[in-house]
Amino acid sequence: MPAETRIRLIEPADAAPIAAHRARDAAAFRRWEPAQSAALLTPEGQAARIDRLLAGHRAGTAWPAVVLADGEVVGQATVSGILPQPHLRRATVGYWIATTAQQRGHAGRALALLLRLMTDDLGLHRAEASTHLENLPSQRVLRRNGFTPYGVAHSAILLDGAWQDSLLWERILAE
Ligand SMILES: CC(C)(COP(=O)(O)OP(=O)(O)OC[C@H]1O[C@@H](n2cnc3c(N)ncnc32)[C@H](O)[C@@H]1OP(=O)(O)O)[C@@H](O)C(=O)NCCC(=O)NCCS
Repeated sequence: MPAETRIRLIEPADAAPIAAHRARDAAAFRRWEPAQSAALLTPEGQAARIDRLLAGHRAGTAWPAVVLADGEVVGQATVSGILPQPHLRRATVGYWIATTAQQRGHAGRALALLLRLMTDDLGLHRAEASTHLENLPSQRVLRRNGFTPYGVAHSAILLDGAWQDSLLWERILAE
């Protein structure tokens, strides 16, 4: 039977499993994500980062979730840059899934849950995302969740030592 996917707000106790995933997967993620400091590969560094994420949650600018597969932390899915003003009501989504749990639909289902939360709980109107032009798995996850590409931001993000273009994605959420 396929593993169940859930999301919940990140908490301090998630520091150890997240650090273990990030340390094991550092090389695999280098092409797709900004370089992580060595501190983020340790439980202490992740605990400090989780404190900062939860401060953003209290301030209303972020909704940082962990992704659970049958109750185990296998990744993160985050709403960031929340603009709640009535004329904007938009935010950006991002996610990663540990290499040990990829290709089982967790990212796609976690993003669906995050979009539901953005619509029902946060009252947002628009979701945005960006991917490396060649990150086909991430693009599949977005397409499966109703996102469409709307442009390219040039030389937009430093990845693995080189400035890379970003493909920009949008999804209008249900009213
Ligand atoms: C991108 C990522 C989150 C996907 O996680 P996942 O749980 O494996 O994703 P899912 O299983 O839900 O879906 C993966 C999709 O990519 C497809 N896929 C996998 N490898 C592929 C490839 N080389 N080319 C094309 N499609 C591919 C799968 O078939 C699936 O598509 P489907 O929905 O049509 O079946 C994960 O690979 C990851 O964390 N990568 C490193 C960090 C990263 O890229 N983060 C996102 C930055 S924008």
